[in-house]
Parts: sequence; structure tokens; C-alpha cells
Amino acid sequence: MVNIMERVGVLVVSYGSRETAMVDAFTRSQEYLVDLYVADRQRNPFNVKRAREHVVIPTLDVEAIFKFAEKHKDKIDFGIVGPEKPIIEGIRDVIEGNLGIPMICPIKKYAIEGSKVAQRLLFQEVAPEVNPRFKIFDPKNYSSLSDVKGDLFTWLDELGNKVAVKPDAPAAGKGVGVWGDHFNTREEVLAHFLANFKEGPVIVEEKIEGEESSFQAFCDGKHLVPLPETRDYKRAFDGDKGPNTGGMGTYKDRGNYLPFMSLEDWEKEKRIVEKIFERLKGESCNPELRGMPFYVAFMHTSKGPMILENNSRPGDPEIMPILALLEDDFVDVCFRIIDGNLTHVNIDKKAAVGVYKVPPKYGGYIDAFPHLVNKSEIGTPVVLEEAESLANKYCDNIRIYPGSMEIREDNKVFALSSRAVFVLGIGDSIQEARSVAMEGISVIKGGALWNRTDIASKEHIEKSIMHMSILRKHA
Ligand code: GLY
Repeated sequence: MVNIMERVGVLVVSYGSRETAMVDAFTRSQEYLVDLYVADRQRNPFNVKRAREHVVIPTLDVEAIFKFAEKHKDKIDFGIVGPEKPIIEGIRDVIEGNLGIPMICPIKKYAIEGSKVAQRLLFQEVAPEVNPRFKIFDPKNYSSLSDVKGDLFTWLDELGNKVAVKPDAPAAGKGVGVWGDHFNTREEVLAHFLANFKEGPVIVEEKIEGEESSFQAFCDGKHLVPLPETRDYKRAFDGDKGPNTGGMGTYKDRGNYLPFMSLEDWEKEKRIVEKIFERLKGESCNPELRGMPFYVAFMHTSKGPMILENNSRPGDPEIMPILALLEDDFVDVCFRIIDGNLTHVNIDKKAAVGVYKVPPKYGGYIDAFPHLVNKSEIGTPVVLEEAESLANKYCDNIRIYPGSMEIREDNKVFALSSRAVFVLGIGDSIQEARSVAMEGISVIKGGALWNRTDIASKEHIEKSIMHMSILRKHA
């Protein structure tokens, strides 16, 4: 008997490698023939080859994505959104509201990263222990600069100057600044603060010390299905030095949590996020939350897990190890999210390590290490084939996900300005997965791309374990 696979149309709103990983997960479906309609930020070589229809919308603006979805509305069964900008701008409200296509991402109201102040106030209501000491400075409450400066300095006195300064709105002013990283004097704090304050409210909070982990979940509006924890490597350079980036790499251990965490930390995290979810969900269910991954950056401190931030979209790169190790058919998972009956997913108990290769200007690398950049390679095509061919050697335990790259007319592939290509290795241990990923990274040539060399290294992980044990001893 011939088994005829059901045909399904999926709209993917794509920013970079995170959505390439989604495209890969859909393409690997064993139960459905998936027609992909990809609204992409660039001519991503991976997505272009796999999409039935591919459109480039560099700004990912809602109106343009809506027009693309409208054109194919009779063939699209559901949509999924990776990046935050269209979620904050109400992509689900517009597409679901006008075309009736179910979308996997929350409605605009729950784009929780839209306001850091609202986040802190929500946590204060449901789980105050996850908040550092914080104070909101709202321009509406001040009539003179000297008043706000006076209040800021009084607050700095109380916190001993060790603060993080966070604008309420994403990417407003100069963004998040942290004592010891972005400023070392009160005058520098003030300058950073004022650059943000002229744009809107600013939070000044106690800088918290610890080790970071990323929590994510699948959510159907009724159930929260926690996914294994992953680590993000935010800083540009080895040893967690240099400016913050979108994330230079990630790892996942075989189990549900990371080597520097305890089972109790993991249980606490789940209870905290469950409380946030319960508060937003209300009595029974709230389909408007459907697709919200509750991607929470936790800091593990001497006092237990605290929250740095919460997002309405999955982490890039933190969701990639999860998607690659998902044992359930991703299309089915999406249908269960839409139907509100996702109570469980199966994740392969393997370790995974992912590393980004990025262009010379990214993270200020070329300015910090000009002698390490091969200038003659800048702007040359990037060759991915050798890395891709490692899939045979490693029985598919390696994935190559182009992100900020475009394929041009002559079929050559070029890196653009952001994180260019992500290599994920899978193995029976973190070190085995890392060695696969690093081999993939080493054979990607061209474009003068560079990468961190210490993602998930034994030394880096041991340092995190040691750091946590010192913090716990002094708790
Ligand atoms: N890896 C950080 C982020 O996705 O925001």
C-alpha cells in the first residue's frame, strides 16, 4: 500500500540561522510534505533552496509579510515567526485577524520584550525573588536634569555603584550597560543613563553575579512544555571578553540542565516560569499566548536563579540544539500547539554544541585584533560545501545553518553584516559534540570569517562550575 503524505503549507518569518534551523526541522518531517513560504531578511542560501516561495523583506515589516501571506493564503496552513521585531509589531494580530492563518507566536500584547519595565513589574507581582533591586526612572516624573541626577546618584550610593542600566524599550538609546563592562565611573553611568533617559523610561538595577542559562518552552496557550536548558555565549571574544553580541555559540548537555546547575535550580526555574505563565494565562487557557517560548535568561546567583530578561521569541542560537534533537515531527508539534493539546515533547538525550562564524566587523573584531584578520579574504565568497559534506562522516550529527548570508546570481554565497553561519555538532557528550562542531567550523573558508574558540570548552565549563560552587559557599 502506498502511503500518501499529507501536504502542508507553512509560512516562516525568517531573520537568520534560527529560522534556517526551523526550515530544516520542517524539511525533515517524515509525516508531511511541507511547502515552505519563507519571508526572509536576505537570500539565505539554505532557505532559498528549500522554499516553495521565498521573498526577501530586509526590514521584515508586517505589511510586506502580510502581503506575501495574503498572496499564498490558500496554500498556507499555519505560520511561525522567529524574530522579535514582527512579533512586537503585531504580525500575528494582522495575519490571523485578516487571513485566518494560525500563527505560532504570541499576539502583540504579549511581546514581553517590548517593555523591560513591564517585565520587572510582572515578575515583582508573581515571583519577586527573581528580581534584583531595581528602580524605574520615568522622564514623566522629572522636570529638571538635576532632580533626576540627584535621584540616580542616591540610588547608586545604595547599590554601591554596581548597576545595570536598561532602557525600557528595545534598542532605545545606548541599550543595556553594565558596571565593570560598559562603565567604571559614576560619570560614565550618568552619560549612559542620560543617552537612554532622553528616549524614555530607564531601569537602574543591581548588577547580579552568577552564571547564565537560557530557559525555553513550547506553549500552546494552555500548557507550558519546558525544554532542556541551553547556555548562551553573549560576549564577542574568548574568555567572555569584548562587547555583547546576539550570541556567539551555545551548548546543551545530555540531560535537562547544564553542568553548573543542580536539579533544584532547574526545578526552581520551571516553577518560576510556570508562575509567570499562570499569571498571563488566567483561569483556564489563553490562546493569545500560543507560540510564546517564554525564553528567559536566568542568572544563577548565590540566592538562586534570578531573571535577566524574558522574551516572546526563541533564542538564537539557543533554540537550535533543541530543534535538532527534537524526536517528534516538528509539523505535528506545531499542529498540537495550534490545537492547544501539546502536553509533552520527546528530545533526544544527546549533547549539542553550536558555534557561529561571523564577519570581521562583527563584535568589533577587526578593530580589536586587526593582525588576526586576513584582509585579502574580506568580501570573498564563503564555501560551505566541505562542512556540509561532514554530515556523511558524522551520520547527520552536524548541521550547517547559514544566517546573515546571501546567495547571488552565480550561486556564490557571501556573508553579510551579522552572524553568518552556525555549525551545530551533536554527540554523546558535550566534548564529543564540540569536536564535531569545531571540525565543521574549521572547514568553512572565505569571507575572513572568525569565531570564538572556547564555546563549551572543558575549561570554560569547569570555570562556570567553580564559579557557582564559590557563590554557593558564600550564600
Ligand atoms: N542569544 C540571545 C538572544 O537570542 O537574544
